[in-house]
Amino acid sequence: MTHFTDTVELNEFISGLPKAELHLHLEGSVQPEVWARLAGRNDPHLSVTPDDIREMLKYNSLSDFLFAFMALTSCFREPDDFRLAALECGRELARHNVVYAEIHTSAAAGLSIGIPPREIMDAVITGLNEARSEGGPEWGLIVDVIREMAVKDQGEIGLELAMEYRNRGVVAIGLGGNEAKIPTSEAAALFRAARDAGMHRTAHAGEAAGPESIRQALDIGAERIGHGVAAREDPELLCLLRDFRIPLEMCPSSNVCTGAVASMEEHPIADYLRQGLLVTLSTDDPPFFHTDMNTEYARVAEAFDLSPAEIIQLSKNAFDAAFGVIPKSGFRF
Ligand code: ADE
Ligand code: ZN
Repeated sequence: MTHFTDTVELNEFISGLPKAELHLHLEGSVQPEVWARLAGRNDPHLSVTPDDIREMLKYNSLSDFLFAFMALTSCFREPDDFRLAALECGRELARHNVVYAEIHTSAAAGLSIGIPPREIMDAVITGLNEARSEGGPEWGLIVDVIREMAVKDQGEIGLELAMEYRNRGVVAIGLGGNEAKIPTSEAAALFRAARDAGMHRTAHAGEAAGPESIRQALDIGAERIGHGVAAREDPELLCLLRDFRIPLEMCPSSNVCTGAVASMEEHPIADYLRQGLLVTLSTDDPPFFHTDMNTEYARVAEAFDLSPAEIIQLSKNAFDAAFGVIPKSGFRF
């Protein structure tokens, strides 16, 4: 470490920095203690401990992770579970000095767990507003469409929801799930309809598939890329991302846990930042990837010996890349 005397000084610098988080899944923000309570409540014969849940949070691939993500998400039974998840999510962000967050919710997937998606949206909005009234972050919602859950049907519902709630905090539609199984190009009609409706678009791409998936995302009209790790395999694409200032929502701990990169040290985030790409830093699904916002900044800063100016740049980039309107005054970088 050449820029800070020790990790204490680094951590203080990071926690004092106002941050914006652009890639965080609400369902992926729930802590093991809460999952254990929800699972036990749903099946009184089952005794589930937080340690049992922690055992589930180990994976070697994106598919394994998504399996755990979907299995745990099916523990939600009532809209109020979503309100509480959103309230806790906002409170946790505040603890990390995140002053603005764009939060993915897979509300359309509520159909498969028997909760009407609109009740989920209402509950999430209520929870995030409650958190904000306690000093939590300003927020925007991204309605996430999971590829595996039939892009076509869920996409329509997802876009309907996004449009219906755009005056209540929805800022974009997102495309999640496993790009290695269902190509990004399959969302072309969905993204075209979103663009025609004036709705912002972001897609997970270059996480479990190669640079062609990122190119497909741009071709179908994605304005931001979730992850984008694989861009380094295509130098022309890297130039394009830099020159057109396409924001990358990078989540290094997530990428290590799902095997998208072999280790934090091999992650391209610092190279991209130093090449002038519009790189932002997020947690994706924090307890699932054993991280949180301050930890994520600290891990990247330590692995790549980031200077204070580079750490600030990462944070500023997220404010610049936000879809929503952020009150930018009052933040001291
Ligand atoms: N949904 C939640 N987290 C995800 C990830 N990292 N990739 C794809 N879909 C997701
Ligand atoms: Zn994600």
